[in-house]
Amino acid sequence: MDHDDGFRTERLRLRPWRVADAAFQRRLWQERDDRVPARRRITPDGHPTVAELEQRIRTDERTPAPGLFVVEFATSAEAVGYCGLVANSVGVPQEPELAFEFLRASWGQGFATEAARVIVDDAASHGYGHLAATVRAWNAASLHVLDKLGFVDTGEREPDPVHGDSLLLRLRL
Ligand SMILES: CC(C)(COP(=O)(O)OP(=O)(O)OC[C@H]1O[C@@H](n2cnc3c(N)ncnc32)[C@H](O)[C@@H]1OP(=O)(O)O)[C@@H](O)C(=O)NCCC(=O)NCCS
Repeated sequence: MDHDDGFRTERLRLRPWRVADAAFQRRLWQERDDRVPARRRITPDGHPTVAELEQRIRTDERTPAPGLFVVEFATSAEAVGYCGLVANSVGVPQEPELAFEFLRASWGQGFATEAARVIVDDAASHGYGHLAATVRAWNAASLHVLDKLGFVDTGEREPDPVHGDSLLLRLRL
């Protein structure tokens, strides 16, 4: 399989976003922790709407390569989360950020680690020397996934007394 079209793991398939995934994406937004900043939460008047998320999917340029993928169960094709690479929020283009988010009902079964591992294994083929990850200090599950993948805490942190400090981790590929 051409990896721009996705990846397969033992239990999961990673595939590009479809416009029809907008409602699923909105479910992920709805499930977000109260400590997630407001710009990444559904507003009291319901934004982003499914239509707005559809538009974002249509215009997604999938950069940095290979971009973000929907993660679905390989057997049922039911969407369970997303995983992939996003632009580095700390401004280093050759060091994209690993991102992942899964429906709460699926947590604790190793899905994030399984999906992220194929993204990490593929990353060097795009010419990246490192991957970054930014994570709130309270996010023990995400920190544990990143630890399992070999990410190391750089010690850099952006203090945020409202949403929790943001930690910068890095993986040498
Ligand atoms: C972070 C997230 C993707 C993890 O997904 P997941 O499929 O449950 O992850 P995995 O099962 O692969 O691994 C989670 C690990 O953290 C552990 N864990 C879960 N909650 C924990 C906690 N509160 N404290 C310590 N460890 C915890 C699990 O036991 C598991 O470790 P193990 O495999 O050694 O048992 C999921 O919690 C999520 O979608 N969170 C919301 C979005 C998010 O935070 N994304 C990351 C932003 S940086």
